[in-house]
Order: sequence, then structure tokens, then C-alpha cells
Amino acid sequence: MPHKIIQLLLSWYDENKRTLPWRKTYPNINPYFTWLSEIMLQQTTVPTVIPYFHRFIKKWPTVLDLSKASQDDILHAWQGLGYYNRAIKLHQCATIITQQYNSVFPASYEELIKLPGIGPYTAAAILAIAFNKPIGVIDGNVERLVSRLYALEIPQKKLKKEISEILKNFPLKNRPGDIAQSMMDFASSICISSKPKCLICPLQKYCKAYKLDLVDKIPKKEEKKRPTRYAQFLLVQRTDSGKVLLYKRPLKGLLPGLMSFISTEWKPNTWPNPQIFYQKFINNYDNIVWLNDHVYHTFTHFHLDARIGIYKIDKPLIKHFPFPSMQWISPSKLSKHALPTLMKKIVATSNMKNW
Ligand code: ADE
Repeated sequence: MPHKIIQLLLSWYDENKRTLPWRKTYPNINPYFTWLSEIMLQQTTVPTVIPYFHRFIKKWPTVLDLSKASQDDILHAWQGLGYYNRAIKLHQCATIITQQYNSVFPASYEELIKLPGIGPYTAAAILAIAFNKPIGVIDGNVERLVSRLYALEIPQKKLKKEISEILKNFPLKNRPGDIAQSMMDFASSICISSKPKCLICPLQKYCKAYKLDLVDKIPKKEEKKRPTRYAQFLLVQRTDSGKVLLYKRPLKGLLPGLMSFISTEWKPNTWPNPQIFYQKFINNYDNIVWLNDHVYHTFTHFHLDARIGIYKIDKPLIKHFPFPSMQWISPSKLSKHALPTLMKKIVATSNMKNW
């Protein structure tokens, strides 16, 4: 059965593969492109990644160029892709590849896995796609496809290990990169999460979940319970220059290294008291104008419900806010800075560009 499955997947892939800018046939493949695309594709869809990928390779055609870029430039180019830690590790990884590997990506699992931002999935993807090594590459798509083929009704946590065992019996030696990518493409267009296209699926005959009428139940969905946090953001604007106050978030934690408006803590389950927080730092708390519209944003582990206050001052603040690297920035120049999507939503909701 594994032989037949691989054969059918490769024939399907040869007819239907997506044309993607990082995709070339081994050996004409550039490991830098493979690595960059795989980092971008972690937690992000292919259509979202494509324009970012084009911009990155235009700006930084090689890993050496990328290693010479500043962290701020990389974060700026990454803005909107989310999971910004990836961008920081991308830079760290490029630096190591340049300094320790003479700008040549290593072709062993042991070396790849030690690099910043490269976990088991990405190491396997790079080995299979860029270096033609026979190795199972298991992302969410492959998990869905294989767990249906073998009717694996097991909890999400145990799925990867089980699938890794199954793939050890698959013939991966011939075209390993294409096999990995055929599974990904197949699972994102035929064996999709909801309403999979079983009726036109060339693997239907070999699919245990289809035979047992379990396709909708596999893979088992883990309910993601995201709590909500609450915060009040303050847009402080100077009436002399029109500039607004932002700070650069620390490199560790959420939205690392990105610019943010100042805010109260992001409190789980209930609103913080904004007055207690802000009146320590500003003279006229009552002059804050609170907008009616909230901004909502979902992070991996929680939702954020944010309110926005606008506070105009004619003199620079006398008391100091407890935020690092604060800067006054013109609303029209915000696009020059690395601003996460949450802050862009706040800019849009406050209509700041028209103040
Ligand atoms: N998702 C992650 N990597 C991919 C790739 N190389 N092709 C298609 N989808 C992917």
C-alpha cells in the first residue's frame, strides 16, 4: 500500500503541483530559498507567504545578504506575517550560517536542528526538499492526510510520532522532496480539513477513514480554548508636532522588537483600571478621550479586547512612562517602522492618519 500511495501522489503532483517561487527541481534548488520559505510557511498560508518571499529575496538575494541586514530591517519586512520571533531567529540563523558554515547550509539533521528557528519539521523539510534526503516531513497537512489514510483516531499529541513510524515504511528514496511537497499540496487541495474532496480523490481506494466513514472525525480536533485579555491603549499625541508616542517592545516575549503604543497590562478575564495606571504618568487623566470602538485581535493563546484612549499634550511629558525605547513618530511615518497587525488595527480604528 505505501508504494501505491506514493506512486499515486507523485503522479497527481506532476499534473497538479502549485507553481511556487521557491520551488525548483533538485539539484537546481537553492537551500536558502527552501529555508526562508519554510520559516515563513510555519503557521502561515502559502498565498500569504508568496509576496513576502518575493520581497525578501529581492532585498536579500543570499543568506550572506540577509545576515548583513539589521534586525529592524528584517522585522520591518516581516510585519504582518506574525509570529515575529521567527524573524529574529531568521537573522540569528543567517548569521550562524554565514559565520560558521561559510554561507553554505549544512545538509545533516544534527546540524540543522541546532540552528535558531529550525525544529524537527523544518530540518526534515530542508533535508528532503533542498538536499534530496529520504526523510518523512510531517506538517499539519501531512498529519491530516496520513491520519485519514490509516484512520488514526488518536489524540493530536500522539499523532506525529505515530505518523513518523508509518512514514518509515514508505519508499522515500526516489524524489524525497517531491514526495514531501506532493503530500502538502495534495492535503491542501484534495484532503482538506472540511469537506475533503473524497469523490475525486485518487487515493480513495486506499483510505481507511473513507471506508469507515470517519473522514470528518479524523484527525481529532482539539478544541482551542482561548481566554480573553483586556487592555487600554493610550495614543499620546503632541500638539506641537503631531507626533505620537510609541515604544519598542523587548526582544523576548510577545511581538518581540516591534513598535507598540503604550498600554496598561493585558489583564486576563477582566479590564485593568486605566486610571490607576495612567494617572501616575500624566497630569490630566480626565482629558483622555476614550473611543467607543474596541479593537479585537487574536493571538495564539488568547484574544485581546483593546480600548483606545487619545491624549493630547502641548508639552513633552514630564513624568516618564515605564516603557523601553520610547519614540515620538509622525502618524505619516508609521509605515517606516515595524508595526504589528494589532497596532495597525489601532491606527485604523483611531483614524490617526487624519488627525
Ligand atoms: N507548506 C510548508 N512548506 C511547504 C512546501 N514546501 N510546499 C507546500 N506547502 C508547504
